[in-house]
Amino acid sequence: MTKQNHATHKPREKWGTRIGLVLAVAGNAIGLGNFLRFPVQCVNNGGGAFMIPYIVAFVLLGIPLMWIEWGIGRFGGKYGHGTTPGMFHYLWKHPMAKYLGAIGIAIPFGLVVYYTYIESWTLAYSVFSFTGKYFGIQNHQGMVDFLSAYQGKTVNSYFNGIGTAYLFFLITLGLNVWILARGISKGIELLCNIALPMIFIFGVILLIRVFTLGAPDPAFPERNVWNGLGFIWNPDFRALTSAKVWLAATGQIFFTLSVGFGAIQTYASYLSEKDDVVLNGLAASSANEFAEVILGGSIAIPVTVAFFGLAQTQQIATAGSFDLGFFAMPIIFQKLPWGQFFGTIWFFLLFLAGITSSVAMAQPVMAFLQEEFKIERKKAALIIGSVAFFLMQPVIFFLKFGFLDEMDFWIGTFGLVVFAIIEVIIFIWVFGSKNAWKEITLGADMPLPKIFYPIMKYILPAYLAILLGCWFFQDGMKVLTMQGVPPENYPYIWFARFLLLGILGAFVVLVRIAWQKPHLIQRRIPS
Ligand code: TRP
Repeated sequence: MTKQNHATHKPREKWGTRIGLVLAVAGNAIGLGNFLRFPVQCVNNGGGAFMIPYIVAFVLLGIPLMWIEWGIGRFGGKYGHGTTPGMFHYLWKHPMAKYLGAIGIAIPFGLVVYYTYIESWTLAYSVFSFTGKYFGIQNHQGMVDFLSAYQGKTVNSYFNGIGTAYLFFLITLGLNVWILARGISKGIELLCNIALPMIFIFGVILLIRVFTLGAPDPAFPERNVWNGLGFIWNPDFRALTSAKVWLAATGQIFFTLSVGFGAIQTYASYLSEKDDVVLNGLAASSANEFAEVILGGSIAIPVTVAFFGLAQTQQIATAGSFDLGFFAMPIIFQKLPWGQFFGTIWFFLLFLAGITSSVAMAQPVMAFLQEEFKIERKKAALIIGSVAFFLMQPVIFFLKFGFLDEMDFWIGTFGLVVFAIIEVIIFIWVFGSKNAWKEITLGADMPLPKIFYPIMKYILPAYLAILLGCWFFQDGMKVLTMQGVPPENYPYIWFARFLLLGILGAFVVLVRIAWQKPHLIQRRIPS
């Protein structure tokens, strides 16, 4: 494209520094998934058995997708587009392209709607640890009841309604909107420059505490930290034939790297045309993996094994994603000297990990409103905050009817695989594998190993297609037909589905409206 074309768009926001950029993308990826979801997935799928497919999925699927998304994102940025409708429009000159791109805004925005609420619980629990509110509850069931009363599902002596949860939700949403309104370098980048080092420091403090625990109960010498670590790190090759373990590991890679959501592309669009993507993408992914397997894996699992033993840890983990982090950990903090301090930093670490992710989920729709509708940044943040606020009400009030879980399945499990397939086909097959390769390696500070060419072209799409097929038949059908769901929840589940379709439909319509503006269309003709 020519200089002249460049001159027709006003300069887009850019990342301030390279380290800021890597921290921001790492902050995008490092989230609740690393510290809550990973340990539970790992324990549920056999520990050492899980780690092999996990590492395979990271190399064959996670890293290539990361590079692809960075490539797509930087490519779009040079045409003035931070979201996938504009990006796909240039990659594939077909009227459908932009509508498929709408999925890449709907998914992250849908995620904002429930993730922000979960994020607010971590802030609340950090405060509860500080004040010692749950101190005195000595067993798992007690902590389950504590959370359920906090969420307004039940009433007990700790909470008599949803008020506290609502207050923390408002604070969390407000903070998110405020950071978004400050923009890329003064908002998100600054936040990540502060939050990421804090996450690592808190993580290392907790890790040291865990490693120095030994066997806390002399009556049970086998309940010790080393057995917890051994459980994760002793490879177990038997489970390699289990489809369930492969699916879980692959799903975790997607979720933790934030790929398949449309959000990485937006961050990458704020790069300059020749900024490296190969090394940056790898650095951000590696930072995420460090936070996940080293920090995330060495805190919750070994500590729970040390206090409850392996068998009980596995039992706790089968109950759900929050059971290690929200139930087991608070009981353990009470048994440690300085427990209130460790509890506070554990939950605050979760909160920081959460907020650096939730602003990343909201940034695509920010960029969309700013660029395609010329809405000013602060106003865009307010609009998004208000719409999200509105949509979050059913998530909050219908929590006990499985509303959030339903959204999470379609967005956090299913949607991202579908979207990943779409983007890989458009970038690698339609735009062309040679062009894609050139796009990714342009300005690279590190050679991209050639082996990734066939991986991106053949293995990745095949892997994704198999994954989608298995998922659909194994879990999708069950979810779709609401197996095991109590009939009184049906209306809420349907409501969740309509809401998701509504979000998607709304973005399709907005894309259509944006593309009807003649000045925009003109701007989009590349030379
Ligand atoms: N990776 C984040 C985590 O581990 C969550 C996440 C999934 C995310 N998809 C995303 C964050 C898209 C930002 C954008 O918790």
